[in-house]
Amino acid sequence: MIKAAIVGMGHWGQNLVKSVQGVSPHIQFVAGATRTPAKAAEFALQQGIKMDSSYEALLADPSIDAIVLATPHSMHTDQIIAAAQAGKHVFCEKPLALDSVSAKRAADAAAQHNIILGVGYNWRFQPALQEIRRMIEDGRLGKIMHIEGNFCGPSAYRFPKGHWRHEGAESPAGGMTGRGVHVIDAMMYLAGPIDQVTAQSFRIAQDFGSDDTTSMLLHFSGGSTGYLGTIIATAETWRMQVFGSKGWVEIGDVEHLNTWDLPTCMIDPDNVTNKQRPVRVSFPAVSTERAELEHFAACIVNRQPLATPDGDAVRNAAVLEAIIRSATTHTTVKLT
Ligand SMILES: NC(=O)c1ccc[n+]([C@@H]2O[C@H](COP(=O)([O-])OP(=O)(O)OC[C@H]3O[C@@H](n4cnc5c(N)ncnc54)[C@H](OP(=O)(O)O)[C@@H]3O)[C@@H](O)[C@H]2O)c1
Repeated sequence: MIKAAIVGMGHWGQNLVKSVQGVSPHIQFVAGATRTPAKAAEFALQQGIKMDSSYEALLADPSIDAIVLATPHSMHTDQIIAAAQAGKHVFCEKPLALDSVSAKRAADAAAQHNIILGVGYNWRFQPALQEIRRMIEDGRLGKIMHIEGNFCGPSAYRFPKGHWRHEGAESPAGGMTGRGVHVIDAMMYLAGPIDQVTAQSFRIAQDFGSDDTTSMLLHFSGGSTGYLGTIIATAETWRMQVFGSKGWVEIGDVEHLNTWDLPTCMIDPDNVTNKQRPVRVSFPAVSTERAELEHFAACIVNRQPLATPDGDAVRNAAVLEAIIRSATTHTTVKLT
């Protein structure tokens, strides 16, 4: 049983705790710290979590194995480095960092201090997404040519004026930082590294806050193409459709973390003009948050590295940085 501390006990921090507390035999939250302890006091009491006075106090507590960070984006890098220096394993919410240098600094610190660093890309634990990867690996989809995706919702309206989510430094390229990075991670899980982006990003719906309408064209080093949009002043939705040389698959739903169906439509190899109906495969519901935290716990026990300096979480930060630069300079940006 990994004994963890939650840091940042807002919306998502509480969600992460609830996903495992009292049900997981592998990870348990025993302590927590947050900027305004009074706001989380009742929750901590209900969940049997001891509130500590500061992040530093948690890091000094020898009974804690791992820190789970659910704090504003700009805080992640320094908090990871401090935890690594204290010898604590860290699970950090996405994005790992807002630029590639910071992401690499965090991953380097984890490697240097021999701790496991996990990043909250919970979509990888969706059974339907895992099935698409199997379909690519075993050749059922053929050669992957293109992936299109979006992840949208009313975030711009949900957070009041002055909330950290509206700050340009916390949410550059609008919904890319909070939402689009999940789709980028899912796309890289399926099609490998991205080596070129062309992006545009605007604020259209409101006269304050971060951009609400961001879209981009992507090129993968394996040769596939992709496009992605994220609109954060509209109703909730997400989808991703993967086009292979033998057919397509699609995931996505309004209840975006509860996507258990996978429509698949394959070409009829005997008659390509014979229009096929999609076949829908369903998967059992799982908690992707519980799955990612239990995977993190297993990696601690097995000493199996997760986020590494040359891994996808660092690449994702580099893609985010390239998107921000492309949208700002109105140019196509290549990634090395
Ligand atoms: N994987 C997912 O699907 C998913 C979904 C949602 C969010 N997330 C991620 O989870 C992280 C937290 O997001 P959230 O939605 O939980 O945010 P939130 O509700 O605003 O919670 C942020 C927490 O951090 C604390 N905090 C510490 N220092 C702060 C500072 N300088 N400014 C503002 N807050 C500070 C806040 O304390 P106070 O109580 O004082 O405000 C609050 O407890 C982000 O990285 C986000 O991208 C992931």
